[in-house]
Amino acid sequence: MTSPHDNFALWCSQELARVEDALTLWIAADAPANLGEPMRYAVLDGGKRLRPLLVLAAAQAAGSLAAGPAEAALRAGCAVELIHAYSLVHDDMPCMDDDVLRRGKPTVHVQFGQAQALLAGDALQALAFELLVPEGSAIPDAVQARLCRQLALAAGYNGMAGGQAIDLASVGKQLSREQLQQMHKLKTGALLQASVEMGATCAGIQGAALVALQQYGAALGLAFQVIDDVLDVVADSATLGKTAGKDADHGKPTYVSLMGLQAARDYAHELLAEAQQALAGSGLPQTAALAALADMVVRRSH
Ligand code: IPE
Ligand code: IPE
Ligand code: MG
Ligand code: MG
Ligand code: MG
Repeated sequence: MTSPHDNFALWCSQELARVEDALTLWIAADAPANLGEPMRYAVLDGGKRLRPLLVLAAAQAAGSLAAGPAEAALRAGCAVELIHAYSLVHDDMPCMDDDVLRRGKPTVHVQFGQAQALLAGDALQALAFELLVPEGSAIPDAVQARLCRQLALAAGYNGMAGGQAIDLASVGKQLSREQLQQMHKLKTGALLQASVEMGATCAGIQGAALVALQQYGAALGLAFQVIDDVLDVVADSATLGKTAGKDADHGKPTYVSLMGLQAARDYAHELLAEAQQALAGSGLPQTAALAALADMVVRRSH
């Protein structure tokens, strides 16, 4: 297996292929009443897969992995991606952001109807946890339980779902910097930070190295949503694969509306430096992929 120290692009393409194959295998095509169709539509064929890559890079940061931890990391990466995909399906529904374009395709509710979109999201969320507790695997029970706990905390009321609630309650309002930061940390940061922490769990990374990875994940998670806010203003829909300019249209408070475009970009770069500093001080031997992924988050065009 290629190390990201040798070639990040090659490492990425190998890991992305493994993630894609696993998702294709694990998302049921045989669900009743064609529910598998919107589930597969929501997850396969699109998406940057940043969260699985973060899980895998964090898990490999301490060195190459034995079979059990490697399986745990692949499962954890896919599980986070399923929660993320479900959050997008619901985020796009008319009762939330009312969006028609996602990953360059019509949104799930446009393609399959609202009831199917709601149920596909529900089923993807449950499947995420199912992936973390395989029967008869080499992953120790304690690791399986910890991964479930980390994902549940990040997805739930004090994580993504809670952040989404703040987002909806904030339409048309001006938030303070602290309130905006709290919203972004929950709705987007929590799952990204959990990706890093779940990778660490798979590899048994503890102590000061874990704390450093948590700092890296928190800074990167916030930077990600700051850049999402920036891209909503500066990029076009074709590049983004989702409707551009909708935050201002919908009266959403964002880092751009709070501080302006350039200050938002500068802030994302400050957060990137914070993430890289945490990584450099982690004492972990293989942080090249994590460093490259943080760079990607802030310098991306979509
Ligand atoms: C978009 O996430 C939604 C947010 C959390 C801001 P991504 O930009 O990671 O979306 P995909 O997975 O690549 O489509
Ligand atoms: C979505 O934030 C965050 C989640 C889906 C949890 P946005 O509403 O800004 O995401 P996009 O811009 O639609 O991808
Ligand atoms: Mg939203
Ligand atoms: Mg949205
Ligand atoms: Mg957005």
